[in-house]
Amino acid sequence: MLQRVKPLERILAEGADDTSPHSLKKTLGAASLTAMGIGAIIGTGIFVLTGVASAKYTGPSLTVSFIIAGIVSAFAALCYSEVASRIPIAGSAYTFAYASLGELIAWIIGWDLVLEYALGAATVSIGWSGYFSTVVSHVFGFAIPTEFLHNHWDTGPSGEPLHGILNLPAFCIILLIGALLYRGTKESAMVNNVIVTIKVCIVVFFIAIGVGHVNTGNWVPYFPFGWGGTLFGAFFVFFAYIGFDAVSTAAEETKNPQRDLPIGILGSLALCTVLYIIVAAILTGIVSYTRLNVPQPVAYAIDQIPGLGWASLVIALGAIAGLTTVLLVMMFGQIRVFFAMSRDGLLPPVFSQIHPKFRTPGLSTILFTIFIALVAAFTPISIVGSLTNMGTLAAFVLVSISLPILRKRYPDTRGFSVPFGPYLIPSISAILASLLLLAPFVDAGVGRVMGIPLPWFGFVVWLVFGLLIYFGYSRSHSTVGINEAKDALQPPA
Ligand code: ALA
Repeated sequence: MLQRVKPLERILAEGADDTSPHSLKKTLGAASLTAMGIGAIIGTGIFVLTGVASAKYTGPSLTVSFIIAGIVSAFAALCYSEVASRIPIAGSAYTFAYASLGELIAWIIGWDLVLEYALGAATVSIGWSGYFSTVVSHVFGFAIPTEFLHNHWDTGPSGEPLHGILNLPAFCIILLIGALLYRGTKESAMVNNVIVTIKVCIVVFFIAIGVGHVNTGNWVPYFPFGWGGTLFGAFFVFFAYIGFDAVSTAAEETKNPQRDLPIGILGSLALCTVLYIIVAAILTGIVSYTRLNVPQPVAYAIDQIPGLGWASLVIALGAIAGLTTVLLVMMFGQIRVFFAMSRDGLLPPVFSQIHPKFRTPGLSTILFTIFIALVAAFTPISIVGSLTNMGTLAAFVLVSISLPILRKRYPDTRGFSVPFGPYLIPSISAILASLLLLAPFVDAGVGRVMGIPLPWFGFVVWLVFGLLIYFGYSRSHSTVGINEAKDALQPPA
């Protein structure tokens, strides 16, 4: 199965065949891809998780955690840029692995990406729900009942039960985004461009207002939880950087992938990294980190400045719009990865059926929308968030490893090349992502099952489940496998 590699010529031919009933429309350029990247990156990580991270793990050294997670992401982004520009086909890391590391590893990555995209979308929708309920109560004076804001397992600040039933706003926003994606990529990309502009403006607005109110006394002590806390904080806020890789899932819908994909991936990550580091420094400078354990820390910090309640509301509204685009890109990515896997026969054909009018994977969109909405409604944010980080980091490791193999196997492909040859950058990338993956083992505060940190336990269970499907269905339905078997039966010419 490791030998069963999908030939690159076939991968590229499938994407180029506009007449195929499984082909996607090519509508995206560099600007749309960069916007798509920013749309996926700036979200729950910066608007929501910064609060808990600074209050519980990092203190003012939140900025350092963002720098560490940014460095890990930058190395991975270089690898994604090269691989995606050489293999511009829907499916991202899954497709790259199929052409280099073989079918089994490709399956593992594809399965693993469900954690990143589907559970990532669920995580973001729960963060969205927090900001949404805050705005609803401020603007309309109406408090959404706790039962409909929390799942059964959620507890209050001191561990008291909240008696939640389901997270209704999270459930509804997923249904709404699903409906938008059902209608088509072009429309989704246009909506995305508008909201991304609002989101970047909101972040710049926060920086502009906040910078004059920084009290450097709040930065002391800088490492209140020691270096261990700062490192674990890097694992925790890594969530904020997830998304640039989602650009590569749109590769097949890109007009000039060799040029536009690297611009989209590296450009969006660079811009967000700079914004994040500044926001982290200002956030922890406006208020003491000890007061930041709130669901809407960015709006809260501005609210603490006398007379700026209006600005806080503007930021909360912008955050809601901003989180919406993250959802859009994550769900888009999930559907495209399963589309590619289904086209290869590894999943049932329903996931690659194209809607006759909208030319999007319609049925798959409906199925995933329901799945993600249910997860969002009934699962705690800490569980889905940490599983998202695990899935993404694992994909980073495998994509980095696949780069030198791809270059060696297909020396004639054209596209962006990482600097310093095919080994140095990918090795550093794989090592850094692996180290961050191990962070849950060093932090004593993470829950454990049978001695294994919860994120690792969930990750392993998910993989075992995936392997059962692979050996029970995919291996025998694989089109690459079926073609190989046919070739073997042909009499020699
Ligand atoms: N990076 C995205 C976010 O922070 C996933 O919401």
